[in-house]
Amino acid sequence: MRIIEQPAELQAWALERRAAGRRIGLVPTMGNLHEGHLSLVRLAKAGADETVVSVFVNPLQFGPNEDYAAYPRTFAEDCAKCGAEGVDVVFHPAPDAMYAPGASTTVRESALTGVLCGASRPGHFEGVCTVVCKLFHLALPHVAVFGEKDAQQLRVIRRMVRDLDFPLEIVPGPIVREADGLAMSSRNRFIPAGMRGQALCLRRALDAAEAAFAAGERRVEALRGLMAETVRRVAPDGEVDYISLNDDETLEPLDGEISRPALAALAVRVGGPRLIDNARLVP
Ligand code: PAJ
Repeated sequence: MRIIEQPAELQAWALERRAAGRRIGLVPTMGNLHEGHLSLVRLAKAGADETVVSVFVNPLQFGPNEDYAAYPRTFAEDCAKCGAEGVDVVFHPAPDAMYAPGASTTVRESALTGVLCGASRPGHFEGVCTVVCKLFHLALPHVAVFGEKDAQQLRVIRRMVRDLDFPLEIVPGPIVREADGLAMSSRNRFIPAGMRGQALCLRRALDAAEAAFAAGERRVEALRGLMAETVRRVAPDGEVDYISLNDDETLEPLDGEISRPALAALAVRVGGPRLIDNARLVP
């Protein structure tokens, strides 16, 4: 397995591999790899001859009061996990190698990013789009894999790929969960031990919405109320950022009754970390 730190070196490698007729798969990550990330690596490997995992905590997507400095960095362990999965290249650039001094060009998607996490984290998706665009230009993938855990991110990246004509396929990976249902996340380690049970409020709220939906409930307010009530019950100390039902494609907030595929999504702060989870409700 090759570790590449220089963007130009990754691009030269990718051009050479492409010229040799090889298909490249890319899994962008911020490291601290867990089973969720590794499931994406397996999907990439299934659709490509050469697999690149990028490990880069992207400063551009963190707000001034967010956890950029505290974000877990575990590069040696990440490399061991990638090695065990048969990854070909780990791309691990330094921030000033990724962003030239005075870099002044960004990529902004403007229809899908005003709601949900985009509303609470101004500039976040501009940072995500910009770094993912750069990673696409450097790794030149035929296929790139993104997790459904970050439902809005997946939709924003798909839109960017469509709007800016990237010649690649986006493959979604299902959410990987702990045995009790908590979606795996690098931020779970910051949940205080005494509050771990309360972190289940997200999955339990989605369970409640899914069960009601399966039983025929289509009213957005009733489903949202059920989710809010479940969060209050399971996580009395949780701070809700949003509990929302949105159009699955346009991410427009829904009201009235659900007649097209919807995305039920929530973000709740549980003892420090802000946790997110989601489920699709398809009539
Ligand atoms: P990160 O949070 O490290 O996540 C990397 C990828 O892993 C994303 O596509 C995310 O959706 C996926 N992922 C995380 N937890 C998952 C889980 N439990 N199940 C399935 N997939 C999961 O998302 C980012 O990094 C960054 O924004 C990035 C795209 C790398 C740009 O910097």
